[in-house]
Amino acid sequence: MKIDIIKAVEELKSGNIVALPTETVYGLGAIATNIDAIKKIYKIKNRPQNNPLICHIHSIDLLEKYVYIEDFHKKLFSLWPGPLTILFKKKDIIPDKVTANSEYCAFRIPNHPLFLEILKLINEPIAAPSANPSGKISPVTAEMVIEYFNNQIPVVDGGKCQIGLESTVIKVIEKNMIQILRPGKYTKEYFEKSGFFVIDSKFETNKNNQKGLLSPGLLPKHYAPKIPLILLANKYIEYFINSNYKEFIIDLLQKNNIYIDNMFDKKVGFLVYGKQFRQNSNFYNLSIKSDLEEIARNLFSCLKEMEEKFDIIISFEVENKEVGIAINDRLKRAAEWIIP
Ligand code: TXA
Ligand code: MG
Repeated sequence: MKIDIIKAVEELKSGNIVALPTETVYGLGAIATNIDAIKKIYKIKNRPQNNPLICHIHSIDLLEKYVYIEDFHKKLFSLWPGPLTILFKKKDIIPDKVTANSEYCAFRIPNHPLFLEILKLINEPIAAPSANPSGKISPVTAEMVIEYFNNQIPVVDGGKCQIGLESTVIKVIEKNMIQILRPGKYTKEYFEKSGFFVIDSKFETNKNNQKGLLSPGLLPKHYAPKIPLILLANKYIEYFINSNYKEFIIDLLQKNNIYIDNMFDKKVGFLVYGKQFRQNSNFYNLSIKSDLEEIARNLFSCLKEMEEKFDIIISFEVENKEVGIAINDRLKRAAEWIIP
């Protein structure tokens, strides 16, 4: 059911979970210092216990109470409020449950007026992972959240998320060196232009010398639709539109040793972008102008609609620059097969 911000504050203060809008995706929020409420989040999402939660806060002054802020973090604060999550060494006041026992806690100031208002009224951090059952596509509308949880969780409806992809998660290693744990709107290029040196490793060998995931969100498959998605490199767009597309696809799949019986007897949906593509009920166009920000904004809602309607999705990678890097990352995670 939908609730207003006053009711949301009441629910949160009573230790309940509320779905909240952000500029990236909807989050499943609880007061971060309330361990019982945090446990409810893990339970309802069916989230692995080793996957930590992001905390949201309304001001940098308040942040000091919860984490150790170093001078080198301060250069990044101009990006807040916004889709950037930073890891800090946490103080004891943040429960270990929130960080899955890590000594680091992820924080961001979200850029959504309703969420900011709630944060100010609560004046404490709100932990909020994306408001989807673990492994499903992140929700970008209140309706998606309602459907995922059978209307069992109250939602503050803040409209469709402006950005549509989850925040960039980073760790500042030292002065000018950062590591991107999850790509988002802010990319490697962006940080390099701002004078940072970006370490590009997705995996890290941990102290015990075992290969460990630096961030559980980097598990290879994470944002999957419930039907198979075949992802083609964008160089194939030209062939696709200049040929009999069904023959072209069958041929391409065969060349890549992918065999799907009677492929086109199934319901095949195409997730595309650009003005070259026809518009009909099997073609979902993310952006006629091929605008990367528009593609990002529409990606998750289109995927969600398509998984209800089709048996297979065929999609194309986008240009690998700016937010396109994060779009390709999410498409790859959603894909059953990738044809480079
Ligand atoms: O845009 C977003 O970040 C949204 C909105 C609601 O703020 N939240 C979100 O949360 O995407 P979630 O839980 O779906 O993804 C959080 C990611 C996960 O990949 C998690 O592993 C990583 O951030 N993360 C959180 N805390 C971490 C920590 N202490 N160390 C390493 N990775 C962390
Ligand atoms: Mg998530």
